[in-house]
Amino acid sequence: MKTILASASLCFGILFMCVSFSTTGSSQIQVVGQTGPVVAKEGDDIILPCSLVPKGSVEDTIVEWTRSDLNTNKKVHLYKDGKDTVGDQIPGYMTRTSLFKEEMKTGNISLKLSGVKLSDTGNYTCRLPKENSQGTETTIRLIVDATTFLNIFRNDLIWNVTKVMPIVNGLLETGLIQKKVKSMISTAGTHQDQMRQLFQALDEGDVEMKSAFYSLLCKHEPDLTGKLEGAELFQLFLFGGGGCAPQGQGCRPPQQ
Ligand SMILES: *[C@@H]1O[C@H](CO)[C@@H](O)[C@H](O)[C@H]1NC(C)=O
Ligand SMILES: *[C@@H]1O[C@H](CO)[C@@H](O)[C@H](O)[C@H]1NC(C)=O
Ligand SMILES: *[C@@H]1O[C@H](CO)[C@@H](O)[C@H](O)[C@H]1NC(C)=O
Repeated sequence: MKTILASASLCFGILFMCVSFSTTGSSQIQVVGQTGPVVAKEGDDIILPCSLVPKGSVEDTIVEWTRSDLNTNKKVHLYKDGKDTVGDQIPGYMTRTSLFKEEMKTGNISLKLSGVKLSDTGNYTCRLPKENSQGTETTIRLIVDATTFLNIFRNDLIWNVTKVMPIVNGLLETGLIQKKVKSMISTAGTHQDQMRQLFQALDEGDVEMKSAFYSLLCKHEPDLTGKLEGAELFQLFLFGGGGCAPQGQGCRPPQQ
């Protein structure tokens, strides 16, 4: 009897919680994405997931996708007045982004990005800027695998990267290599030997570490990265141009 009563009150408790949640939550639109990163290969067409809860049409509102890790007011994609708007778009994303127009009727504002490049690695924020409430934006991380790039240009990188330690420090700051690995690299005699040591760590590292290396390479060796990307585009028959920061301003650090 006791257990029946206990489970009955538990039932009512859960029911009550559900009812009160749905009544307080009904007017509140939430934007949900994905917790883990989206991992892609160069050249892939990918979808960055984002949708409204509860489901509802977003055809009359503004939908904005931005790169929250880049210092720019321009957008990855902007949907406004019932159509895509390119005026404010980051040049590097032009012609590569789209929304699923049919699915937007049910609140699906996922972004399709085609011909993914190494420089697309970063944090993408999906937002409804007209909704001034909390929870109307979410950030999804995209990691583009740099393994092919590192394999093709291993020798060029070993011979030509001189800013090895700034790159290593960047990896250390984000916790992607350990202090003892950094010390080992820093005691190597030449840049070339430092790069060989770094490659040993990269070979054992995951996609996150490799793509972080690429981003740091862009930042500290923009000219070299630009040259190699050009050569890779040629080799892999990828289209769409190179450049580290996808801002159409050449290969320069994004944070300036
Ligand atoms: C990107 O997002 C991750 C977690 O989602 C965070 O750790 C990282 O610092 C962000 N990167 C930048 C450059 O903002
Ligand atoms: C949104 O649309 C895309 C493309 O059709 C689909 O892959 C994705 O699963 C949809 N997301 C949701 C939450 O329905
Ligand atoms: C790297 O250095 C070598 C030898 O100094 C040179 O021949 C080559 O062109 C350089 N590669 C790039 C991409 O700068």
